[in-house]
Amino acid sequence: MIGVFDSGIGGVTVLKELLKIMPNENYLYYSDSKNNPYGDKSNEEIINLSDNVVEYLINQGCKIIVIACNTASAISKEYLRNKYSIPIIAIEPAYKLVVNNEKTLVMATKATINSEKFHKLFDTYDNHNTVLLPCPGLADLIEEGNENKINDYLENKLKDYKDVKNVVLGCTHYPLIKDEIKKVINNANFYDGSLGVAKHTKEILEKNNLIENREGKILFIDSSNNKNKEELFYKILRN
Ligand code: DGL
Repeated sequence: MIGVFDSGIGGVTVLKELLKIMPNENYLYYSDSKNNPYGDKSNEEIINLSDNVVEYLINQGCKIIVIACNTASAISKEYLRNKYSIPIIAIEPAYKLVVNNEKTLVMATKATINSEKFHKLFDTYDNHNTVLLPCPGLADLIEEGNENKINDYLENKLKDYKDVKNVVLGCTHYPLIKDEIKKVINNANFYDGSLGVAKHTKEILEKNNLIENREGKILFIDSSNNKNKEELFYKILRN
């Protein structure tokens, strides 16, 4: 079984890519919505929360963990890899996919944008025409699913960036509102790390002889036991 986790339902954007390339694996998806959002928390809190989730997933029998949350990846991947012996795959904002010097916007949580990990990545691939834009509260609005609030937030937050040509969606929740972002920024290329992380997961499973031929079951667990989350999760998965 492959364990996938996020602070909420955003990681479903990664799970969808995993399912496309590995439909015959079983998945356990953990949404930590009781502790959402991760993006406004301290590093210590993010590490503790991620550690609890990973321990739980391993106890459930997961053979590999996919951190489908840019925030948890940026802050806690090293800690988790040092602590656990199974492979731990981590997503990162897809900034390295931007290979032009056009005006670029990186949208992510505050914790991701401020992280050392992200800054290393940014310094390596800097196209010298990039704005880093923390979007506190946006993942919450996506969890809530209120279209009007999301549109108002984006209209206000993105008003100075309508002409950018590249938009990096550096939080796994944001691909869920790509159409809404496009209403404000309508002539850009969009980049997210979900396909890359799915491909990397497959490579690591192959390398470790861990590929299985299962029925493709998907189990969903939400730490707040919220039935609405479960409904939303399966709805997004089917779309
Ligand atoms: N989905 C998470 C990410 O990719 C963040 C959401 C949150 O702030 O909890 O960064």
